[in-house]
Amino acid sequence: MSEPREFAAQAPAKINLWLAIRGRRDDGYHDLATVMMALGFGDELRVRAVDAPGVTLTLQGPAATADIPVDSRNLVVRAAESVRARLRDASGSEPAGLAFSLEKHVPSQAGLGGGSGDAAIALRLAEAALGGDGGDAWRRARLAELGADCVFFHDVGPSAVALCEGIGERVTVYPGSPPAWSVALLVPEARCPTPGVFGALARSARVAVGEPPGPDVLELSAADLRPQMATDLEPAALAAVPELARWRALLDDRGAGHFRLSGSGSTWFGVFDEPGEAIAEVARLERLAGEAGLGLRLARVASALGNPPA
Ligand code: C5P
Repeated sequence: MSEPREFAAQAPAKINLWLAIRGRRDDGYHDLATVMMALGFGDELRVRAVDAPGVTLTLQGPAATADIPVDSRNLVVRAAESVRARLRDASGSEPAGLAFSLEKHVPSQAGLGGGSGDAAIALRLAEAALGGDGGDAWRRARLAELGADCVFFHDVGPSAVALCEGIGERVTVYPGSPPAWSVALLVPEARCPTPGVFGALARSARVAVGEPPGPDVLELSAADLRPQMATDLEPAALAAVPELARWRALLDDRGAGHFRLSGSGSTWFGVFDEPGEAIAEVARLERLAGEAGLGLRLARVASALGNPPA
């Protein structure tokens, strides 16, 4: 038999341009509204069908850290297992196994949606490698079970930006072309446990976040976007992870007060109109952070998914 075809795709990262907590639900999750943007920076995922049943995952790449499991705790494995189970139920026979290789570029516990993006892309790659199609409704329902942010990566359209409500799984894609901004990303050494940050909401101050920016946001200049960027999760993350409070003070004191936290952190991001401005600001803040004894896991510039790299 010839070697089975390999299927590969990039699993993008995301940032939260705006995020409001609406309330706590009985199941422990929080209802929220958030405007997310997918980035042209992400993980590389590959898969091949194999004879041995089951799903295997190997990890490599600059962000492949020891906290990322390769067993069924990894969302890639769980997404792929559910495709195999669905095809088994539909056909009555055992589908082929799947061997995934994941090159991690997106740091974990950083608020960049790395695990969620991997899950959404793994589901599609598993379908492609096994020659099945679970359908949009099934994929969305399964991804919502896997994680609050996963459906965004499934639904995101050409503009790269969408409003996500519920626990994040009700996605309204913004129509249009991807915004031209260059995004400066600073990922501190500190990791942010998502449940711990949500847990700190009860004891943290609320931000006046206003209403979500609508589809017009795609056309804004960086200067006009910055005042609209806000997140209710920042005070909670600063309360849960003290190192982030030191970062906030550094950004505010050094003329980078417009930087915001992505998701539950720990990534800080700022938007710029010109790639050169973003690159220079990343270099400046990296130097200032080093002088202040604040370490970084990653410092780089990214553009919206679909735009040329910065
Ligand atoms: O679904 P996900 O794995 O992203 O969520 C991790 C944890 O973050 C949840 O178990 C919950 O504690 C918290 N969370 C929340 N409300 C959300 C999303 C996540 O409370 N909308």
